[in-house]
Amino acid sequence: MTLSPLSRSALAPTLPGHYYTDPDVFALEQERIFGRQWVYVGRAADLARPGQFLRADVGTENVIVVAGADGRLRGFLNVCRHRGATLCVEDGGNVGKALRCPYHAWTYRLDGSLVTTPNWRAIEHIDRAEYSLHPVAVDVWEGLVWVNLSPDPAPLTDQVRPQIEYRLGDYEQFARYDLGELAVGGRKEYVCAANWKLIFENFQECYHCGTIHPELCDTIPRFADPATFTQGYDAGGYEFADDHPGFTLSGSVSIPRLPRLTDDDDRRYFGMVVRPNAFLSLTPDHVIVHRFVPTAPDRTTVVCEWLFHPDVLAAGIDVTDSVELFHRVNEQDLGACEITQPNMTSRAYRDGGVLVPAEEVLITRFREWVLASLEQA
Ligand code: FES
Ligand SMILES: [Fe+2]
Repeated sequence: MTLSPLSRSALAPTLPGHYYTDPDVFALEQERIFGRQWVYVGRAADLARPGQFLRADVGTENVIVVAGADGRLRGFLNVCRHRGATLCVEDGGNVGKALRCPYHAWTYRLDGSLVTTPNWRAIEHIDRAEYSLHPVAVDVWEGLVWVNLSPDPAPLTDQVRPQIEYRLGDYEQFARYDLGELAVGGRKEYVCAANWKLIFENFQECYHCGTIHPELCDTIPRFADPATFTQGYDAGGYEFADDHPGFTLSGSVSIPRLPRLTDDDDRRYFGMVVRPNAFLSLTPDHVIVHRFVPTAPDRTTVVCEWLFHPDVLAAGIDVTDSVELFHRVNEQDLGACEITQPNMTSRAYRDGGVLVPAEEVLITRFREWVLASLEQA
């Protein structure tokens, strides 16, 4: 579909207000979006050794991803087959050689098979294979771990690559950042009192940047220009100000650029969404990865990680100046979403709001994706 944002007299619509508040809409999203698509849950670097695990809410399920003795990552519903206790109650760590239920101590190998049922030996007489943990699909893309609750999902790359190509035109443009090789130099977690779609929509427009992001606009002056996003993202990225060579709060640079980047990328920022629950921000010397976990119609957990070349972290270079810039942006963005959320139930917003041309291409695309996903029975 071709959108002509400037050719109409009426402004394009947002979703109606109840899409951001209605528990039935939220339940349908959990089922048909987060329960069916690949969902970003964490980093492969945290699952490098046998027994390391992470735990994540995916749709209506709680899931664990565990590194096996063979190094392979496997995903399971975090539910004991005996009487349903949560197997892993921590968000991450190392379970050692086996997963042991904290209730009656049924114990599963790292491949999910039931190995012992302590205090009850008669397990010898039943078919243990019947009581393995329920598996879920796991895959890794660029060092990011994704889970899919569908029984037979399409490949992860079919979901993520077209989104990167839509943003950058050419996947190699993205591959050069070597996201999978980078390491975490900063991490912040936020609980935002807003629907996940408000946060997603916010990230897809910079119409608000001039109003709420003074530091970001000092870095990238084009973000204060309402025409910046008129045709969607700029495939060429967004250039830093002459007096602001670094993507940092101070504007200075103390980190060498990522190895495979060139002079052309040196002072450019690229932001992109990877539906359904990630944002990526590419800068010359670090990559910022956001992960979203919708926890209620009006509540979303946001995990933001700043990734740097391992040599930068090993050298002890202080990355605070980089982290602080987008941390402020996050607080500004999430604050804007929080002053919007309460009015999603207002009769003033019953039919929704409107989009100016600088917002229209990307948010309309997102809106159509939400509606199409929810329609799929
Ligand atoms: S519920 Fe897990 S061993 Fe009983
Ligand atoms: Fe913003």
